[in-house]
Amino acid sequence: MESKIVIAHRGASGYVPEHTLAAKAMAYAMHPDYLEQDVVLSKDDVPIVIHDIHLDAVTNVAEVFPNRKREDGRYYVIDFTFEELKALRVIERFDYETGEVVFPKRFPKGKSRFGLHSLQEEIELIQGLNKSTGNFMGIYPEIKEPAFHRSEGKDISTMVLKVLSDYGYTSKKDACILQCFDASELKRIRQELNSELFLVQLMEFEEEIDSIPKFAAYVDGLGPWIKLLEDNRLMAMANENKLVVHAYTLRKDQLNENQTFEELLEEVLFRQGVDGVFTDHPDAVIQYLKSR
Ligand code: G3P
Ligand code: CA
Repeated sequence: MESKIVIAHRGASGYVPEHTLAAKAMAYAMHPDYLEQDVVLSKDDVPIVIHDIHLDAVTNVAEVFPNRKREDGRYYVIDFTFEELKALRVIERFDYETGEVVFPKRFPKGKSRFGLHSLQEEIELIQGLNKSTGNFMGIYPEIKEPAFHRSEGKDISTMVLKVLSDYGYTSKKDACILQCFDASELKRIRQELNSELFLVQLMEFEEEIDSIPKFAAYVDGLGPWIKLLEDNRLMAMANENKLVVHAYTLRKDQLNENQTFEELLEEVLFRQGVDGVFTDHPDAVIQYLKSR
């Protein structure tokens, strides 16, 4: 198999509701290189594995706590204690206004029973599986919206780094890659919080390509949206600055017309030449890499 990195994006989220422990266990059994954790803080400062700062697109919060929404009509993770969050059921992602599921062919909405969990609990699952299987899986946490957390009086980066350190993740050798969209926060993590972890700058907008030399002063890699790869400068500047590139997000059920998943993989991994990909379907990427 080619030595490309496969990152299970929110777990095996193409098959089981995202960021549930079931999705992580299923992804683990597919043997990717890393499992991803998006992290948001609870009211009582517990790092929770969830993609949004809101709860209402992946849980039944509106049924359980109907009076706890803010003036904007949204329910925020940061307004609930860990104990309260544990009372919620996680549901396949849906539009919180219409109730329509985002990916109609995925796990049926509201079926079975899934819950929220902390970053600590997920690390214990992965480290536990590493022990019981003899395999070696890395973690790939993302600090979500540090500026929002700061506006709520919380320093999410310090709290996440503490959990990572408690579980043995402190250096580039420790099978942990830390990612964030916020460039100033990543700079702070490296230069003020003195983290020696492998850091990845996530990128969403074309204008950010010009900043790659600046990113290189404090990160080890880039995590661009796959559409940004259409600008050839991105890979050229990443190579010039010796930054690895892990592109997001490859989904079997979110393809352009006239392109198969295998063609997309060939384009991104081999013609563009990225080092790794975030995918909701790790089994399909691994199968492609094996068969190529
Ligand atoms: O972290 C890589 C990718 O997950 C970034 O997008 O919105 O899915 O966190 P998002
Ligand atoms: Ca992410």
